[in-house]
Amino acid sequence: MDYIGIDLGTSAVKLLLMQGDGRILKVVSREYPIHFPKPGWSQQDPQDWYRETVEGLKELLEGTDKSQVAGISFGGQMHGLVALDEGGQVIRPAILWNDGRTAGESDYLNHVIGQETLAKHTANISFPGFTAPKVLWMKEKEPENFARIHKIMLPKDYLAYCLSGVHCTDVSDASGTLFFDVERRRWSDEMCRICGIRKEWLPKVFESYEAVGCLKPELAAELGLSAKTVIAAGAGDNAAAAVGTGTVGNGACNISLGTSGTVFISSETFGADRHHALHAFGHADGTYHLMGCMLSAASCNKWWMDEIVGTKDYAKEQGEITKLGENHVFFLPYLMGERSPHNDPNARGAFIGLTLDTSRAEMTQAVLEGVAFALRDSLEVAKSLGIQVKRTKICGGGAKSPLWRRILANVLNLKVDVLEHEEGPGLGGAILAAVACGEYGSVAEAAGKIVRIASTIEPEPALAAAYEARYQQFREIYPVCKPLFGKLAV
Ligand code: XUL
Repeated sequence: MDYIGIDLGTSAVKLLLMQGDGRILKVVSREYPIHFPKPGWSQQDPQDWYRETVEGLKELLEGTDKSQVAGISFGGQMHGLVALDEGGQVIRPAILWNDGRTAGESDYLNHVIGQETLAKHTANISFPGFTAPKVLWMKEKEPENFARIHKIMLPKDYLAYCLSGVHCTDVSDASGTLFFDVERRRWSDEMCRICGIRKEWLPKVFESYEAVGCLKPELAAELGLSAKTVIAAGAGDNAAAAVGTGTVGNGACNISLGTSGTVFISSETFGADRHHALHAFGHADGTYHLMGCMLSAASCNKWWMDEIVGTKDYAKEQGEITKLGENHVFFLPYLMGERSPHNDPNARGAFIGLTLDTSRAEMTQAVLEGVAFALRDSLEVAKSLGIQVKRTKICGGGAKSPLWRRILANVLNLKVDVLEHEEGPGLGGAILAAVACGEYGSVAEAAGKIVRIASTIEPEPALAAAYEARYQQFREIYPVCKPLFGKLAV
């Protein structure tokens, strides 16, 4: 049978059709707008997601044997707040994972309710991107909208709701709400009480590989699919990407270089970072993971190339970079504030060390290196917890650049495994659908059979040493800028 994985990203929805044996038959992608109504704010219209998903499904299925499609599942941008009223209408645009408007609400949770209390109930502290501070923001700033709330859900859950009619979520995505008791894999009554929300607003929680229902009959007819097509819960995009890159078991690592940048470390047992710089979340295979998330990763390069350099030919610009490890320019990649490890919505991007002979190539190189250094910050936190990471998989748009992969291997001093198919969350979603339909006995079994490594990039000792020295300089820059970022915040 065939399975569809839907990767609901921040810039586009990517849909993938996979045969039961893991062969990818087709991939399509459709973009939608993102709105930044104020600096640091970021929102999208859930109806855009749904419209483009349905159009994408039609495009994906064109010319294929639709009778073979047994299941659909998802990997979705995490944390975004989708609120529906009693009639099932979207109340306001979804506030996204990289929106910093909730700094005050997040501070209230961390400092008035207290990080210890939050960690006790959820295994995490608050970050402005998480869902609970967004709900508090709505309560405070938009009481008329808050009063209409009947259902709360995460972005991919809105798709599952529209496709199946079931108000559901999965353990990995629920983990990023701060309403969820990650260790016990259930909603936290205490967090609902602390935030003044009703538990019945929250979706029913499934494991990522569980069926939540079937495709609505009218939609099945419109798409030419069976009304028995299974809808599986799916996962947050990072957990889905981890499935799609075979990052399961103890101490396996995946780096995602998408709009956000993440360092994802899977673990068969529950554990939290004592400083809570890394998120302690449920994994899509029924276990757990730790994750560091930077808010702007491949998006820094996209911004630099598209908006500033003014080109779409990224490879040509990167071709001008010849002196790896020797750059005198540093770049702070905090264009939307930063999550891990700084938890600072006021942090901003910066170039440091410019001189009159600085070239465009050096600035491009600094952007790629700055993102790699910031990912290393999260890896350092993992190392400080005694976690041994020797190699990592890599996925996301930025992972297509051989130069960026080489920079990462050397900055992180890790072997970087490049996969045959870099379809992270989409492939993970399709795998979760296949498990929900019984094609495989478990997520680990499916990932083991489907995911294949194409090549490995080894760190080069001299370059890794040069980057070690530069990383030590990089990590001195943010603490110096931090007070200034606070003062400059509007
Ligand atoms: C993870 C996070 C981002 C989004 C990107 O905590 O906020 O990686 O999931 O879509």
